[in-house]
Amino acid sequence: LEDKIKKFEELNTLAEAGGGQDRIAKHHAAGKKTARERILDLLDPETFVEVDKMVTHRSTDFGMEKNKFLGDGVVCGYGKIDSRLVYVFAQDFTVFGGSLSGANAAKIVKITKLAMKMGAPIIGLNDSGGARIQEGVQSLAGYADIFYQNVRGSGVIPQISAIMGPCAGGAVYSPALTDFIMMVKDTSYMFVTGPDVIKTVTHEEVTKEELGGAITHNAKSGVAHFTADNDEQAMMMLRELIGFLPSNNMEDPPIKPCTDNIHREDEKLQSLVPVDPNKPYDIKDIIETVVDDHNFFEVMPLYAQNISIGFARLSGKPVGIVANNPAFMAGVLDINSSVKAARFVRFCDAFNIPLITFVDVPGFLPGTAQEFGGIIKHGAKLLYAFAEATVPKITLITRKAYGGAYDVMASKHIGADVNYSYPTGEIAVMGAEGAVNIMHKGLSESERVLAIDDYRDKFANPYKAAEMGYIDEIIQPKQTRHKLVQALDMCANKSEQNPPKKHGNIPL
Ligand code: COA
Repeated sequence: LEDKIKKFEELNTLAEAGGGQDRIAKHHAAGKKTARERILDLLDPETFVEVDKMVTHRSTDFGMEKNKFLGDGVVCGYGKIDSRLVYVFAQDFTVFGGSLSGANAAKIVKITKLAMKMGAPIIGLNDSGGARIQEGVQSLAGYADIFYQNVRGSGVIPQISAIMGPCAGGAVYSPALTDFIMMVKDTSYMFVTGPDVIKTVTHEEVTKEELGGAITHNAKSGVAHFTADNDEQAMMMLRELIGFLPSNNMEDPPIKPCTDNIHREDEKLQSLVPVDPNKPYDIKDIIETVVDDHNFFEVMPLYAQNISIGFARLSGKPVGIVANNPAFMAGVLDINSSVKAARFVRFCDAFNIPLITFVDVPGFLPGTAQEFGGIIKHGAKLLYAFAEATVPKITLITRKAYGGAYDVMASKHIGADVNYSYPTGEIAVMGAEGAVNIMHKGLSESERVLAIDDYRDKFANPYKAAEMGYIDEIIQPKQTRHKLVQALDMCANKSEQNPPKKHGNIPL
């Protein structure tokens, strides 16, 4: 018996040694933690249970039958975050560069299927040289098997990817299919084709970092949602993110005990929105003032900053926040901000997270770049997403709600449950100056000024919309927190369904 236990212990130690001390030392020297260290940082202490520790590849080409590592380059299992079950896989770069073999893909598929069956999130920690070169098509099949599970799981369980090293070629498409992508600064990159191929095909010269580093994908392409300074911070941020999410689409998001007074008023809010409609302010000042403990967990903070999205809590309940931000491009809706917000709205709707929308929008961005780029279909995504969402929808107009953008931003007409406006709200087809320029041509300057004043009196306020019942209540800015909590509370048992259909046809 002792021999058998000894053998088991030896194999166990071997599996945990990954690619061996030398490769681990090289990995550490590059500023990266190992797959196992990352999992330990991610999960509650002593909760990790490993699955498929003894799996090896089955390749016999290129002498591979003599070159095997237990686990085959990916560590899979489950554990807890804040005592809630999550599934995890972490590619081990010290074993064949974390590359994907048939056996290694089967492990990822198995753990993803288990996550779906048990209804808990799956977190993938990616750090891989891509398809296992010695295996060829088996490895490609493995990728497709993973993609298929990603799509099946979409909207069923939260799927989160962290990119913590290379992620290139076909490998990028599994993270791209998941709900959120976290990237670690300086050590991670993602691209479909790398700098060498680009140079050959298009003669462009670009570094890996410029092409697909954390800042590129967070600020430029909009592929990624979060950046972390290092591996440890990435794991802490993933833990925080999971805290806002239900385990699956049949559950409500987790409520935390709230110690922040729900009646808390803030005088600062009374004057935060400038009366001058052309003066910018940062909508995040309002959001952070009103949510529990001033904690706004922003998603995609570096991309399309004219709209802010993210998670927060109100009276302990998680909410998804969508907010035009007048601090950037006057809060205008353009292609990037529409797409950014639309996907977030759909995520929240899929996972029963109520939506709070802050509106201060001068309309859609004019220009040939936007029109040729398809602002019509991209703007329609946001409209579609808000209209389709059946979670509680609470909207607050802080200042401008102009034109079609008024309709799009969770207006009463597309199914919002509670629509508030500050007294500074301006609900109109467009700004007074633009309206007068179109309505009255050939006015003298003094007549024009009078006409602008007249239009402003009539429409640059929330009262016309309130008369029609499009705004339910005009509220004092300082009472925002309590009003949002009340509205959320009122919507707690909301039950609304879209007509039965296979799926809608969102303009993609
Ligand atoms: N298949 C099999 N083994 C791979 C691999 C792959 N796709 N990618 C890396 N490895 C192995 C290397 O052979 C090396 O093995 P060793 O430790 O036994 O020497 C180990 O992983 C580390 O790779 P190395 O090249 O030394 O690391 P690096 O940090 O210098 O470079 C990459 C990392 C990912 C840039 C580089 O390995 C690479 O270009 N890999 C191939 C990428 C690719 O074309 N993949 C297939 C298409 S998706």
